[in-house]
Amino acid sequence: MFTKTFCVSTLLTALAAAAPAPQVAGYPDADASFPATQPVGPAPTSFGPDSQIPAIHTVAPPAPPRVSSDVTGATSHGPFSGSPTTTGAEKASTTLAQMIPPLPPNPTHTYYNQNGKPQQPAPIPYTPFGGLGTNGTEPRYMVNSDFDYESLALGLYQEWIELDLFNNGLAVFSEEDFLEAGLTAEDRAYIAYMAIQETGHATLLTNMLGHTAPVQCTYNYPFRTVREFIDFNQKLTRWGESGVWGFLNHLDSREAAQMLSQSIATEARQQISFRQMLGVPAMPEWFETGIPQSWAWTYLAPYISECPANQTRLIWQNFPALLIENQPNPNRVSPNDTKPWETVGRRVADPSNSTIPPEESCVNVNATGYSCGPAISRNRSEPLSFPGRQVDLYWELPGQAVGPNNSYVTSTSAGAPKFVAWVSQLNLTYTPLTVTGEHTGFTYQPAGEVYEGDPAVNNTMFVALTDSDVFLTPFNLSMINPHVVALGLYQAG
Ligand SMILES: *[C@@H]1O[C@H](CO)[C@@H](O)[C@H](O)[C@H]1NC(C)=O
Ligand SMILES: *[C@@H]1O[C@H](CO)[C@@H](O)[C@H](O)[C@H]1NC(C)=O
Ligand SMILES: *[C@@H]1O[C@H](CO)[C@@H](O)[C@H](O)[C@H]1NC(C)=O
Ligand SMILES: *[C@@H]1O[C@H](CO)[C@@H](O)[C@H](O)[C@H]1NC(C)=O
Ligand SMILES: *[C@@H]1O[C@H](CO)[C@@H](O)[C@H](O)[C@H]1NC(C)=O
Ligand SMILES: *[C@@H]1O[C@H](CO)[C@@H](O)[C@H](O)[C@H]1NC(C)=O
Ligand SMILES: *[C@@H]1O[C@H](CO)[C@@H](O)[C@H](O)[C@H]1NC(C)=O
Ligand SMILES: *[C@@H]1O[C@H](CO)[C@@H](O)[C@H](O)[C@H]1NC(C)=O
Ligand SMILES: *[C@@H]1O[C@H](CO)[C@@H](O)[C@H](O)[C@H]1NC(C)=O
Ligand SMILES: *[C@@H]1O[C@H](CO)[C@@H](O)[C@H](O)[C@H]1NC(C)=O
Repeated sequence: MFTKTFCVSTLLTALAAAAPAPQVAGYPDADASFPATQPVGPAPTSFGPDSQIPAIHTVAPPAPPRVSSDVTGATSHGPFSGSPTTTGAEKASTTLAQMIPPLPPNPTHTYYNQNGKPQQPAPIPYTPFGGLGTNGTEPRYMVNSDFDYESLALGLYQEWIELDLFNNGLAVFSEEDFLEAGLTAEDRAYIAYMAIQETGHATLLTNMLGHTAPVQCTYNYPFRTVREFIDFNQKLTRWGESGVWGFLNHLDSREAAQMLSQSIATEARQQISFRQMLGVPAMPEWFETGIPQSWAWTYLAPYISECPANQTRLIWQNFPALLIENQPNPNRVSPNDTKPWETVGRRVADPSNSTIPPEESCVNVNATGYSCGPAISRNRSEPLSFPGRQVDLYWELPGQAVGPNNSYVTSTSAGAPKFVAWVSQLNLTYTPLTVTGEHTGFTYQPAGEVYEGDPAVNNTMFVALTDSDVFLTPFNLSMINPHVVALGLYQAG
């Protein structure tokens, strides 16, 4: 206590006495002498009663019901052991083609403002011409096409697993287990609150889908420790978030998109919070990524063991698994020393092994740049990965039963694998694949930047094996699907 006080007042004296050298290189004249100083003295040790301030007695009107309680559904977990009653993804009565042919730009998309002034008469004061849903039509907060329905149904499968998953970790691990991972009772309350957020998200999506909305299922989780639970959560929320960014702006219903973006903003905060609990750099990117629906479904399905009898099925594809043999282990002081197959299982999002020898673990290290205990942000002096790193790959062949009741089947329409596609931030980058066996090969991590100063590859990001290096951008990324041989997740940072 004394030491801290001493440091603060010394610093303030120094500030007042002379302008310090700039703290931010290239940002000069930052020597404003602010009049306020932080008072020093002991912190309070007894609390309340407070001042009695003006207030009235107020009662909330009845709130709309939720589709689930705070803790819900499955009390059993584990793999599915029965046999499927139905097989394969949902299909339309007719399927018109195998691929969407590319077209030139939309002929109406030509607006360019030459003079910075409104180009059209304004509908009302302070309101420029244009926009969708701005002409007075009454909003209808419902899905408006098969595309909307299948996309939100996928989103709902995701909300349901999150609700169960966050509660499951809190239920299976003790307070002591959490403390060993550096997480306090307040952190557990925070995770419990995130589970409750999912009841709201599930309610919203159910309401926008109608009475055929998917319901809670039973799950089969990969983690064995609190660290692995947190690692799995930061992976699962990563594709939960990115899965929605990928389709949000393609939805027919702008109203549904409005509500969904307001829920996915919360999901994004969950992802960053789990990264903070894992003690990795909290936000090592400038942009979040969008991925196609079939990617999110590929990542999610292996963790759903069974769903109730009349559960609504999904149209999306399950791609074969692409596994990273040398997936960087965030529990290691030296990520370069990650051993082959240092994940706890062979599903794509299985967490990294946290039960490595203590002298190799960063969890209890007390040194800036090396600790990976929970923190607002960690500066990993030895990054998990770096451009040029060899990445060893193993991929499964199609035809594997996955997902609820083992009733979906992995498939691909691509030819032989030739490239590794790296989907991160705003970018899709291809690197050549060197094939070393029937299921194995390697590539080198690329070095490209989004904009100068922002390396594209970082955080938990998406990798696919493809048969060609077709040029795609965030709004037409789903056209990669016919070229995908297998799909993986990379712990780049
Ligand atoms: C209002 O805008 C919507 C698109 O947002 C359009 O479909 C509809 O025809 C418009 N209605 C009128 C009366 O202009
Ligand atoms: C499944 O059955 C339940 C109970 O009968 C019903 O409420 C729900 O709407 C059904 N779901 C579908 C997709 O038909
Ligand atoms: C999945 O399996 C469970 C247990 O065998 C069964 O109760 C359920 O009806 C099955 N669901 C589907 C969609 O077939
Ligand atoms: C990890 O490996 C790379 C490539 O060989 C090397 O440049 C880097 O220094 C290594 N990291 C550490 C901390 O030794
Ligand atoms: C995790 O790593 C430890 C130490 O290397 C090893 O003994 C254990 O088998 C690994 N666990 C799994 C599930 O791979
Ligand atoms: C961590 O290291 C700092 C500086 O060496 C020291 O002041 C602090 O007490 C250490 N914390 C723990 C928990 O060991
Ligand atoms: C943070 O890590 C970078 C390397 O990624 C290193 O250059 C920098 O000195 C580190 N800062 C601190 C405070 O450890
Ligand atoms: C990811 O970002 C962190 C924090 O800025 C940095 O230390 C690390 O080197 C980056 N990793 C890659 C692969 O660029
Ligand atoms: C990454 O995306 C940005 C924005 O679309 C683009 O300008 C840039 O060229 C891309 N960089 C790479 C390496 O693909
Ligand atoms: C995707 O969009 C980009 C423009 O952003 C275009 O150059 C490319 O040809 C498109 N790809 C396909 C397959 O339509």
